[in-house]
Amino acid sequence: MPSKAEVLLKVNNLYKLYGVNRQAARDLMKKGADKSEILKQTGVTVAVNNVSFEVERGKIFVLIGLSGSGKSTVIRCINMLQQPSSGSVIFENQDIGKLSRKELLEFRRTKASMVFQNFGLMSHRDVLGNVAYGLEIRGVKREEREYKAMEMIKMVGLEGWEHQNPSSLSGGMRQRVGIARALTNDPEMLLMDEPFSALDPLVRRDMQFELLSIQRKMNKTILFITHDIDEAFMLGDMIGIMRDGKLIQVGTAEEMTSNPADDYVRDFIVSADKSRVFCAKHVMITPSSLIRLSDGSGKALSIMKRNGVSSSYVIDDKMTFIGVLTLEDAMKARSENLSVESLVIRDVETVKEDDLIADIMPQAARTRFPLAVVDEEGRLKGIVSKAAVLSSIS
Ligand SMILES: Nc1ncnc2c1ncn2[C@@H]1O[C@H](COP(=O)(O)OP(=O)(O)OP(=O)(O)O)[C@@H](O)[C@H]1O
Ligand SMILES: [Mg+2]
Repeated sequence: MPSKAEVLLKVNNLYKLYGVNRQAARDLMKKGADKSEILKQTGVTVAVNNVSFEVERGKIFVLIGLSGSGKSTVIRCINMLQQPSSGSVIFENQDIGKLSRKELLEFRRTKASMVFQNFGLMSHRDVLGNVAYGLEIRGVKREEREYKAMEMIKMVGLEGWEHQNPSSLSGGMRQRVGIARALTNDPEMLLMDEPFSALDPLVRRDMQFELLSIQRKMNKTILFITHDIDEAFMLGDMIGIMRDGKLIQVGTAEEMTSNPADDYVRDFIVSADKSRVFCAKHVMITPSSLIRLSDGSGKALSIMKRNGVSSSYVIDDKMTFIGVLTLEDAMKARSENLSVESLVIRDVETVKEDDLIADIMPQAARTRFPLAVVDEEGRLKGIVSKAAVLSSIS
């Protein structure tokens, strides 16, 4: 008989309610009201509803579910970036909710490191400086921290790039830096919130493979969040599926496929239609170049040339999205002494961060340029290419 695997992380009856009138929400919850009913009656969002699960040491646990189902909130409650409303998080038999501020910071650095979708790299430091940062703030001497950081840079396949600035790297490479940075502290566990969602499908597959090989080599425990059932099945030793704040089913890919708990799980597994699961924010990328409305045509031209693009997104000083300037028009502006403002193409399609891919498909099909993703105030948040939209429906 193999010895029973060690449980590294235990989440017990976790709840997270957002809003003021939480007692009323709890009363309704007891009566069996669902998330939307509770929100309607009390204004409280039940982000996490009685979630319990265990993660064994050395395993990858994947949380999957529709947008808004509570995945990020769970991961943020584990390292107390969000304070749980009730319930407990036990890590190596230690109650994380009871740690002091100082112990908590140490926990985040050395026990459970977080890797984000948007990389969170520091642009004023090179790759090495970013990867070594965690050791630096812990007071590790330069030579030692750079040695350790280089080991991790090699591990993620970025040797030779250590003195580059993150902004000169591709999305996939930046995420490798993010992973190397998390690994440098040698944490017991990696908390990864949709780390690969912004990458294009091929790079994404590479990164999944890379993560698996790193995990096998270093025997790390990983809690990984995704929208993508293929990614979940590829990476997860164990998979938990969330809906409306609840953890509906936990099991291996095999168990879930052969014995789905309900129709939601079944739909999730068989549904090839990712366009009903992904939103614009999950596939958007940062535009490689931006031009300000107040820029002169010479500057606009040099920005485009430097970035090797034939058109660029134009914003005003408040990041409000204005339109697109083509290279052709920028050249025209310079030779005819016209302003950028007069040549910006303004009828460019925009979408919101939370728009479903299925709903933006028609726009993506007819647009000349990648769709601009804007927030409520019209500020540019990212762009979505036609290819990104198409690849999420295959
Ligand atoms: N700071 C907050 N204040 C109020 N409500 C919040 C807050 N953060 C999240 N929520 C709500 O809690 C619920 C769960 O959100 P969460 O971000 O955990 O979902 P998710 O599964 O990670 O979604 P996504 O796939 O879009 O990242 C949602 O209904 C969301 O609107
Ligand atoms: Mg999330």
